[in-house]
Amino acid sequence: MSVLEVATERLAGDLKSARAESDHLFSTLTAEAMYRRPIAERHRIIFYLGHLDGFDSIQICREGLGLKSPDPGLDDLFQAGIDPAPGNLPRDTAADWPASDRVREYVERCRKRVDENLDRAPEDTVHMALEHRLMHLETLAYMFHNFPLDLKNAPQGYRPGETAGVEHADEWIEIPAGEVTLGKPRDGSFGWDNEYQEIRSRISAFRVQRFPVSNGEYLKFVRAGAAMPHFWIEKSGKIFWRCMFAEIPLPLDWPVYVTQSEAEAYAAWLGKRLMSEGEFHRAAYGTSSNEERSYPWGLAPPTAERGNFNFRAWDPESVSATPAGDSEFGVSQLVGNGWEWTNTPFAPFPGFEPRPSYPGYSANFFDNQHYVLKGGSPRTAARLLRRSFRNWFRRDYPYLYAKFHCVDR
Ligand code: AVJ
Ligand code: FE
Repeated sequence: MSVLEVATERLAGDLKSARAESDHLFSTLTAEAMYRRPIAERHRIIFYLGHLDGFDSIQICREGLGLKSPDPGLDDLFQAGIDPAPGNLPRDTAADWPASDRVREYVERCRKRVDENLDRAPEDTVHMALEHRLMHLETLAYMFHNFPLDLKNAPQGYRPGETAGVEHADEWIEIPAGEVTLGKPRDGSFGWDNEYQEIRSRISAFRVQRFPVSNGEYLKFVRAGAAMPHFWIEKSGKIFWRCMFAEIPLPLDWPVYVTQSEAEAYAAWLGKRLMSEGEFHRAAYGTSSNEERSYPWGLAPPTAERGNFNFRAWDPESVSATPAGDSEFGVSQLVGNGWEWTNTPFAPFPGFEPRPSYPGYSANFFDNQHYVLKGGSPRTAARLLRRSFRNWFRRDYPYLYAKFHCVDR
């Protein structure tokens, strides 16, 4: 086999393992849960069952190779998700969706067509299908997180994350001025449309917290009158954290998962602010020699001791648990243990071009209502931890695994 053939085989293998992961994730739900909508702004779970393989077949067979689909009606139904503006929630009922046997047959047909055509499909498209599925492994986790515990079964060996129960010191790190490189060059390697193209930007000096803001720190804000974050629940005067498959007393040393508005409000309460996208790059990838790293810790690919990502856990862990993932400047957990909220509205880089086969992937969200998140969460696949990857959500969307560091100056 040639080097190219080996790479193609590996990609096909990764797509198949991601399918097994998604099958496994759906299998943790009861049949009833498949037709429920755990997040008011999103589709019922049954949509996602059809969407993952519908997307692959649409992109690889229909758009990529120009093949005629045997299921145009189901393709339309499962083509794309929703992100309604506040106050504009979907009103479909469970009965509006096809029976799960019919959706499973559709999934099988899509997989068969994809597999038959994989060898001649453009590699870029197969990459896109794989990363699309990996992103949904995470967005599905947010959705499942919102189900009551009795609608899901914890996988064998599940335990909620550990907590040291003690708080760390509030340390601040000086980041000197320097240049950052956002985005990626058009060099043939896979990227989503919003990652292009490469841009350089000058960042002034600033100070950033060494650790993400913890539940313990945020608790002071709640005691001063702020609302409780979505992941907290109060029961007879005690606060608990809603883990994926359990509820535990509020772990004071975990990062607080909040909306961007909550993060902004907390920072403002202390006279601080959030990082911009450029400042994130400087704090995470910058060095005193002004060379930029691929990851905060250097060039080595992501492994478990560097951070809480790549499905190693279902829940966060202590803000001080992964010093091996610190950036050169010494900032902890910029990548992993929760996406980092920035104060940068999601917008195209100069030279942005939508992907012709999927023009709405990013462009539908360039509306100043969505903000850039960087880094990654416990449920972010290693492949998506590359420096140029950009995530985005509405600033008040409370369901994702997202935290923040405060900045001053
Ligand atoms: C990049 C996570 C914001 O879920 O809305 C999946 C990814 N786009 N299918 C989303 C996505 C279409 C997207 N995020
Ligand atoms: Fe999708």
